[in-house]
Amino acid sequence: MTDVQGEVAELPKVVILISGAGSNLRALLAASLPMRCECVISNNPAAGGLAIADTFGVPTCVLNHRNFSSRDEFDQALIDVISEIDPKLIILAGFMRRLGAEFVRTFSGKVLNIHPSLLPKYPGLNTYERALAAGDEWVGTSVHWVTEEVDGGPLLAQRAVPVLPGETAACLREKVQKIEHVLYSSVIRSLLAE
Ligand code: GRF
Repeated sequence: MTDVQGEVAELPKVVILISGAGSNLRALLAASLPMRCECVISNNPAAGGLAIADTFGVPTCVLNHRNFSSRDEFDQALIDVISEIDPKLIILAGFMRRLGAEFVRTFSGKVLNIHPSLLPKYPGLNTYERALAAGDEWVGTSVHWVTEEVDGGPLLAQRAVPVLPGETAACLREKVQKIEHVLYSSVIRSLLAE
């Protein structure tokens, strides 16, 4: 992998932040995007996405938020690691920590997130359950810039799928994640071309 990474050294650098399974991470790394993923950073040492990064030969870094005495200290450690890399984009792919003002200011206009709802509906957690409880006919996903407001930054793209009779939150998650895997890569490809 070192050789492959070496050959593409001129490509724009990105970092990808995860906390969990990493299906979006896998889709991004498999999409052959014109980028060099310098590091996958996880706040969760047990994140499944760390093994996915390994299989793609991408370096990983665990910054366990539980080892920091405050949110600010954790954010500062993230800022330090990412500043050293100086990436064009910071891609949140299932990263479950709220990022504070200092982080957002430092990397303004570079931080992207994908959220499993048709924002501005349902920022935060349990989006499918909330959509089902509300009787929504459509669910979907949104890619947006990250600002201080949780899941509230400017939208870049959205895709929707219909809710069919009898579908559970788990069914909706599976359907929406399939479209996330295509949408996120396509938005990032466009941003990298700018
Ligand atoms: C995705 O559905 C994404 O929208 C949300 O967290 C989920 C992460 O899933 N932010 P995965 O770790 O990429 O499988």
